[in-house]
Amino acid sequence: MAGDKARLFGELVTDVATCRQCGLCEGAKNRVNGEGDLDSRLVFVGEAPGRREDESGRPFVGSAGKLLDRLLAGAGLSRRGVFISNVVRCRPPGNRKPKGAEVEACSGHLDRLLGIIEPRVIAPMGNSAIEYVFARYGLGEAVIGDVHGKPLRAEAAWGGVTVFPLYHPAAAIYNRSLLGGLEADMTALAGLL
Ligand code: URA
Repeated sequence: MAGDKARLFGELVTDVATCRQCGLCEGAKNRVNGEGDLDSRLVFVGEAPGRREDESGRPFVGSAGKLLDRLLAGAGLSRRGVFISNVVRCRPPGNRKPKGAEVEACSGHLDRLLGIIEPRVIAPMGNSAIEYVFARYGLGEAVIGDVHGKPLRAEAAWGGVTVFPLYHPAAAIYNRSLLGGLEADMTALAGLL
């Protein structure tokens, strides 16, 4: 099974490498597919690569990634034991929020990735990811301040999943008052596994 997943993920990475479905690839140095354990029960979904991610081709390696690593460790999780990806694969210029048409153009890549991993728990981080995951799984509209830290059941193509929305780590860097809640949410999330 793991071998199958590695092969399917390799095919996805190859296809993403030549994707031209939106304009974001024109300014991107690397396409960031995500990384971690393809057999993990838990997938984190962020928004989009930033400068450090664009340079390295890896998700969450800048300041938000360092905080994410700390949050994972605090909850007894590790980057190697989960899978981390984003709504879009290419860095939006100036780190702006990806536009609806860019998210739509990239959506097939994330859907394919999730279909390969078949996670039991999906944790969208921040508004872009929450909007995307809520729309994809028919969960309606979401206000992050209301939905963070609350598990929701949804049906995916491979079976039931728990959607567990989180604030984006970058939000807690800019607004330190969110940090305690994000730590508590991460611990609750780890408790679901
Ligand atoms: N922010 C994101 O949403 N994703 C990354 O990969 C890095 C920062």
